[in-house]
Amino acid sequence: IAALRCYLELRRKEQSVGLSALPSIGLVPTMGSLHVGHLSLIERARQENSTVIVSIFVNPLQFGPTEDYQSYPRTIESDRILCKLAGVDAIFAPTAKELGAQEGLLSACQVVPPESMTAVLCGKSRPGHFQGVATIVTKLFNLVQPDKAYFGQKDGQQLAIIRRLVRDLNFPVQIVGCPTLREPSGLAMSSRNQYLTPQQKEQAAVLYRSLQQAEKAFKAGERLAANLLAIVRQELAIISAVEYVELVDPNTLMPLEKIEDKGMLAIASRIGAARLIDNIVLNSR
Ligand code: PAJ
Repeated sequence: IAALRCYLELRRKEQSVGLSALPSIGLVPTMGSLHVGHLSLIERARQENSTVIVSIFVNPLQFGPTEDYQSYPRTIESDRILCKLAGVDAIFAPTAKELGAQEGLLSACQVVPPESMTAVLCGKSRPGHFQGVATIVTKLFNLVQPDKAYFGQKDGQQLAIIRRLVRDLNFPVQIVGCPTLREPSGLAMSSRNQYLTPQQKEQAAVLYRSLQQAEKAFKAGERLAANLLAIVRQELAIISAVEYVELVDPNTLMPLEKIEDKGMLAIASRIGAARLIDNIVLNSR
């Protein structure tokens, strides 16, 4: 933390005397095990800022007691090389101890976003998860004080909650939402795809296929949630462990009966050892 503050002070000084072309700091928060999805956020940040900071921190606060905190892939050496190749200025990779995050949520101040956003979709099966995310992202915003921060649409619920956090707590940071990067099969890139066998990976491509089927119907004029959800469920029938299929407002996460303007069609499913999520935003305009 001391080194980060020292480094940022130096960069801000350079920026204030006009030594850099785009005087702004961009932050890309990650849990590491970087893949092409993360790199697309980093590239966008590189284009828009004079200083790009990537944080790498497997955040214990956002993992449930039966989740994969211990086994979550940690690949800091290859992450460092990828960041270097992508032109990242600095990596902030603190220990849980230094961030004061090792003792869990209950023993420290925490950030609690509205329940209407955290108890729905993934929040149903992951109690405490989004408080853990909001708390750590708040800490990162306070430490780095970025002008812009980059988040993927892949985690659509997380993105909506962070936008709300920034609005409600008046963080002086611009949140940039970035499109979901996919494998050629359509499977959304994720650090957790490593848990899949090649056969399960093939099977997992049905998630995006099902969303595409609904998008096709949407483009042909279908607006009713019941019908759009039925299309997704029918396509997903080959998977036994579907956790949810829902159509919600992409900003409030409230369920929609009908798309007037925009709707986020979101799914979560278990495949093998992985819990996978995906979504698309259907936009009437
Ligand atoms: P992580 O899962 O490492 O993801 C870091 C960022 O990369 C998130 O904003 C996520 O939405 C984005 N991302 C992941 N896969 C993507 C893909 N296929 N295409 C585009 N973007 C993708 O999300 C987290 O970490 C954590 O919750 C964090 C925000 C760092 C807080 O701990």
